[in-house]
Amino acid sequence: MTRDEEARAILRGNDRGGYTVPTDGLYPYQWNWDSVFAALGFAEHDMERSWQEIETLFKGQWANGMVPHILFHKVDPSYFPGPDVWQGTGPIASSGISQPPIAGTFVRWLLEMDAGHAARAEALLPKLMDWHRWFMTWRNESGAIVVTHPWETGRDNCPDWDGPFAAIEPEGVEQYYRRDTTHVVEEERPRRWDYDRYLHLVKLGADCGWDEAHLREVTPFRVADPTMSFTLLRSTRDLKALAERFDKDTGEIDGWIVAMEAGAERLWNEEARTYDTYDERAGRHSGVVSNASFLSWYAGVGGDRMLPHLERVCGMEPFFIPSTDPAHPAYEPKRYWRGPVWAMLNMLIAKGLAEQGHGDWAGKITENTRDMIAQNGFAEYFDPRDGAPAGGRNFTWTAAVWLAWASPTTGRSTWAASC
Ligand code: GLC
Repeated sequence: MTRDEEARAILRGNDRGGYTVPTDGLYPYQWNWDSVFAALGFAEHDMERSWQEIETLFKGQWANGMVPHILFHKVDPSYFPGPDVWQGTGPIASSGISQPPIAGTFVRWLLEMDAGHAARAEALLPKLMDWHRWFMTWRNESGAIVVTHPWETGRDNCPDWDGPFAAIEPEGVEQYYRRDTTHVVEEERPRRWDYDRYLHLVKLGADCGWDEAHLREVTPFRVADPTMSFTLLRSTRDLKALAERFDKDTGEIDGWIVAMEAGAERLWNEEARTYDTYDERAGRHSGVVSNASFLSWYAGVGGDRMLPHLERVCGMEPFFIPSTDPAHPAYEPKRYWRGPVWAMLNMLIAKGLAEQGHGDWAGKITENTRDMIAQNGFAEYFDPRDGAPAGGRNFTWTAAVWLAWASPTTGRSTWAASC
C-alpha cells in the first residue's frame, strides 16, 4: 500500500458512521478539532463525508453555544474520564469544555473546494457564530482567549501549565484508574501529577454544573493561551468572509476581530520575545516557546516577530516543529506536548507562513513533515530527534493532513497549492 492508500484506509477504519475517532482504542469518541482535521482529509476524496463530519460535531453544540471537546456518542468503557465523570449538559453526552475553534476556517476551505454545497456552509454559519460568541462572552480577557482546563487547548501537558498547576492542590479527586497507559507506554503520556490536576478541574466544572459565570469566580485555572487566541482570531476572519459571501451583516464579527487583535498583545512576552500563555490568576507569562507560539502568522498578527525563534528552534533537531523549545529545561522529546512534533499543527503553521509571504519556510516545514510521515507512518506524534513514531498509531489527523497537505501526490485545490 502506498502512504496515500494507507491514509485513506485509516480514515475509513476510524469512521464510526458520520464521525471519526482519533484512533481506535486510545480515543474512542468524537474529538472536536480532530474531527475538523478529519473533514479536510475526507475532502481529498469524499466531499459528502467531509461536510457530514462537521455537521455531526455541531449536533453536540450546547444551548449556550459551546461546542464540546468530546462527544460521547456511544459509551466505551476503555476511555477515562467518561460521560459519568464529565456530566455535560448538552444534547449529546459530552465533556464540559471546548477545543481550539478551527472549524470556521475549515468550513471556508471546504466551501472553496466545493461551492456546490454552499447551502451546507450557510447552515453552519449561525452555529459557528454562536460558538464564537460563547468564547467572546465567557473566555475573553481583554481580547485574549482563556481556558479553564489544559485539555481545552489541545496541548494537554505542555510545560505552560506547570506554573498554574503548581498552585493547585488536587483535593476531592477520588481514586481513579487511567486507561491511556494501557494503550501507550507511560513515558509518552502525561504524568500522574498532571492527571490528578486534570481530574480536579473536571470535578470543579461538573460541580458548577458547567455554569461559566460561576466557574469564572471559583476556578484557580484561568490561562490565556495562544492556541485558543490564534485559532479563534483566524477563524473569526474566516467567518467574516463567509458572512460576506452569504450577504450577512459583519458588524459583530468586526468588533471581535478588533478586540482579539488587541488581545493578542497580552500574549506577547517581551522578555522572552515570544507569544506564550499568560496566567490570569498569577499575572505571569509562562516563558515557554511552543509550537502554538508559531500560530501568530496563521492568526495574522505580530508580523515577523516570531521568526528568530522559528529559525533557532527548527535548527535544533532534524524534525520540526517541536511542541516545546528543545532549549527549555522541561523539553522531553517523547512525552506528548513537552517536545514531540505534531503534524497537524505543522500544517496550520505552514499555512500561516505561506499566506504571510514566507513560502520558503512553509516549503521547509511541508517537506520536513512529508519526510517524517513517509518514513515513520501515521503516528499521533513524533520524536524530533529521529522522527520515531510515538503515542497512538493509525491516527486520523496525521492521515488527514497527509492527504490534504503533506503528500506529494494528493491534495485538492487552491488550498494545497498555496502551501
Ligand atoms: C489529546 C490531544 C488533543 C487531541 C486528543 C484526541 O488529548 O492533546 O489535542 O484532540 O488527544 O486526539
